[in-house]
Amino acid sequence: MIAPVEIAGVAKVVPERIVTNFEMEKLVDTSDEWITKRTGIHTRHIVTEETAVGMAVEAAQKAIAHAGIDKNDVGLIIGSTITSEYVTPSMADYVKKMLQIDAVAMDISAGCSGFIFSLTTASSLMDTLHIDTAVVIASETLSKYTDWTDRSTCVLFGDGAGAVVLKKSSKPCLHYPILAGTADTEDVLYGYRERRNTPFCKTESIEKEYLHMKGSEVFTYAVGAVEDILRQLLEKCGDQPYNKIIPHQANEKIIDYVIRKMEMKYEQCFINIGEYANTSSATIPIAMFDAYEKGWLKKGDRVALVGFGAGLSCGGVVIDWTI
Ligand code: UT7
Repeated sequence: MIAPVEIAGVAKVVPERIVTNFEMEKLVDTSDEWITKRTGIHTRHIVTEETAVGMAVEAAQKAIAHAGIDKNDVGLIIGSTITSEYVTPSMADYVKKMLQIDAVAMDISAGCSGFIFSLTTASSLMDTLHIDTAVVIASETLSKYTDWTDRSTCVLFGDGAGAVVLKKSSKPCLHYPILAGTADTEDVLYGYRERRNTPFCKTESIEKEYLHMKGSEVFTYAVGAVEDILRQLLEKCGDQPYNKIIPHQANEKIIDYVIRKMEMKYEQCFINIGEYANTSSATIPIAMFDAYEKGWLKKGDRVALVGFGAGLSCGGVVIDWTI
């Protein structure tokens, strides 16, 4: 069961430093034209001194302020990240410590699908543990795990964080969560954690590792998974279909393809990959914030969120927007 909840606050935090495609041309053998045409990306925000946990703390603070709640009302904090600076405690625990909140806290690692997985976990736990208020934060610094000499990956990613406050409500506003996974038999998307030798190790230590991706295989998975989830959500919505979608921002061509297949209007889909590139699990909450701030997402809208990523994993959920 998921609890009847609404989104009461939303926030984003992105690093100050903006890196353009023209700057990328100076780092690797690429061009603004190639990146724009193949992905829709023009710029990305990249950390200089900011950290994943630092951005998570700030995003949580801003979302709590936006919701207008007392931080002490928060009973659950879920962090979505694959790039936290800490092995332990979790990013969510760090937020708990910095905000001085006594709450249940944990992280979820589900690649770029992480925010949808976290939102679903939070609303389920709110029901199971009888918690009235939760904060879900996605914060990522993919730039720290990217090989900046590999043109096929370094142009694609950016850094940033987004957060939402979930509050129990009389009317359920979060509907039909779908989480799914397919075995990644071809190793299309993975990255090792760095680790050192011990006196007992028989395998080599890994002290410098990067994200590996077979882009076209991920692309093929993504277009199928996103369309499938959107169709399932539409069916579940019955005579109250969603009118807008906020998809994971990995490549504008994936989004274009799905809009065409779903026979939706371009204006029904929020796209901001041009500015931020792919911030992994943070793309959806960052897009939610921008969509709300720009007035694209309005009170009364029924919006489908859909994500996909490493694992391979994918997920979707429908939200009635109430703020
Ligand atoms: O968040 C979830 C994870 N990620 C994704 O969803 C990514 C999904 N995949 C994609 O977005 C696309 O597959 C990419 C943008 C990664 C690649 O686009 P593509 O149209 O699939 O290109 P490709 O990998 O088939 O490569 C085509 C050519 C290759 O050259 P040759 O072999 O044809 O001579 C690449 O070496 O483009 C070359 N290339 C580049 N050229 C200029 C690859 N990266 C670049 C680059 N600049 N940055």
